[in-house]
Amino acid sequence: MPREEISSDWYKDIIIYEIPIKSFRDSNGDGIGDFPGLTGKLDYLKNLGVTALWLLPFTDSPLKDDGYDIRDYYNIYPSYGTMDDFLHFLEETHKRGMRVITELVLNHTSNTHPWFVSARSSRDSPFRDYYVWSDTPDRYKDTRVIFNDTEKSNWTWEPKTRQFYWHRFFHHQPDLNFENPQVQEELLKVVKFWFRLGVDGLRCDAVPYLYEREGTNCENLPETHLFMKRLRAEVDLEFPGRMLLAEANQTPQDVLPYFGNGDEFHMAYHFPLMPRLFIAIAQGDRRSIVDILEKTPPIPDSCQWAIFLRNHDELTLEMVSDLERDYLWTIYAQDPRMRLNIGIRRRLAPLMQNDRRKVDLMYSLLLTFPGTPILYYGDEIGMGDNVHLGDRNGVRTPMQWSFDRNGGFSRANPSDLFTPPIQNALYGYQVVNVENQIDFPTSPLNVLRQMIQIRQSSRLFGRGKMKLLTPKNTHVFAYLRESEEDVVLVLNNLSDRTESVVLDLSRFRGYVPVELFSGKRFPRILRAHFHFTISPYGYFWLRLLLPEEEAGRRRIRAARKTSPAAPPAFRELLEREAPG
Ligand code: NOJ
Repeated sequence: MPREEISSDWYKDIIIYEIPIKSFRDSNGDGIGDFPGLTGKLDYLKNLGVTALWLLPFTDSPLKDDGYDIRDYYNIYPSYGTMDDFLHFLEETHKRGMRVITELVLNHTSNTHPWFVSARSSRDSPFRDYYVWSDTPDRYKDTRVIFNDTEKSNWTWEPKTRQFYWHRFFHHQPDLNFENPQVQEELLKVVKFWFRLGVDGLRCDAVPYLYEREGTNCENLPETHLFMKRLRAEVDLEFPGRMLLAEANQTPQDVLPYFGNGDEFHMAYHFPLMPRLFIAIAQGDRRSIVDILEKTPPIPDSCQWAIFLRNHDELTLEMVSDLERDYLWTIYAQDPRMRLNIGIRRRLAPLMQNDRRKVDLMYSLLLTFPGTPILYYGDEIGMGDNVHLGDRNGVRTPMQWSFDRNGGFSRANPSDLFTPPIQNALYGYQVVNVENQIDFPTSPLNVLRQMIQIRQSSRLFGRGKMKLLTPKNTHVFAYLRESEEDVVLVLNNLSDRTESVVLDLSRFRGYVPVELFSGKRFPRILRAHFHFTISPYGYFWLRLLLPEEEAGRRRIRAARKTSPAAPPAFRELLEREAPG
């Protein structure tokens, strides 16, 4: 697929699937996932319907922050495979029409990176100024400590050269000094290296923290935006059509500048939306979501929000009020071991108390909201977590492919796995696994797959406008997604009771709602007010069709029925995969 033929804002139409190489599939039986393992599962991902893969860090690292502590920006962590394995994976992914997004860790390196090893050895090191040093830990006092469970300060003493060095995350992750032009050049080199190899996008880690300035909180400084604009300009020049995604865990107002005038990042995560989805479903009320959507400013046309339910980190609660945080902790983290830093280290299914209706409803919200959705590996089958594992490792356990040894993740002796798979009665791999879910049309996997198919059948979801409806019943969250050629009405019942709701659909008098999962027609909208009844945690996705459109679509459907090209069934794919 030559890149030039595809629209340059392709990132508006994709569905991203997030993958830690280590946890996905081990091909050589050493107990650690690797690139050949992942490549062997590409058909599974293709069939799930995702169209882009976001890989967590995979270059060489001591793995004290799961690869975000980089020792070498250019070489693959040996247990994950070789550069050839990576290139083969990239080629195979592109062959299937999927994109690849990799990590760019700008803000810091590992303390084992040769730059830091040299910098800490002598004040005269040529790399000394690659990092931020101080004689006192009193500088930048207004800066918060992010990993506050493990770090007490953003400064750590370096005894050999008798100065403190600056770090926004773990003490073994010294911050790079972006005031130093050489550091900027080095990072630009890294960007170009990975784009030259052919990756489609870079997820830029921890961007708000690149610079420090006395008297500020050292976040979102103007210098950061200047550097990012420069990086973007160089990317546009040499690699048009590639994408930059900002990880900036900030309010929507503070994220807005990262889009610039369409000349900085293409995408940014919408962090504050995510916890509000969890509040809304716990309260059975739409108002917390409406509130954050109303606080979300418009972004430049070429830009896009990245939205998600869960990821490899704790469910961060930095962007909610103290009251909201206490509420979320009370509901979702009664056991103190479920808490980490300012967040909750759990997966989607356990957060939803394994209530299928709630899990599906969360996906209904995610997949019909404006923005590009990101799914976290394993959540498609409702995997559980393990609070006994330290840090965030409890949500990074081996992918559960089958009820075979190690959940089909690896042929290794179970004691050699990098971490144990989930084995409890409810979420253990013997019960929750891909193979078990493939043949059941109503399994979590297949329902999500169907939702994805529907979402991908129209560009409306990634690009259209969202118009909130305001029925009196606040248990129901209803909105229209609209583009010039398409309109879908979405209703979500956030409560645990059957709800009835009356919507003002006067604009659509004469239209016929068609339910998108079944293709069933609802009665034509004849009056201004339309009445719906929705089951507990139920949802409707209804395309509103004018009578003549409806006839046209029927003809198209009839024509499609005669076309023989059905996609291979999931089960066939499993059996085709090479054993091991
Ligand atoms: C954000 C990443 O998502 C997280 O996993 C990591 O620990 C920090 N950045 C520090 O690199």
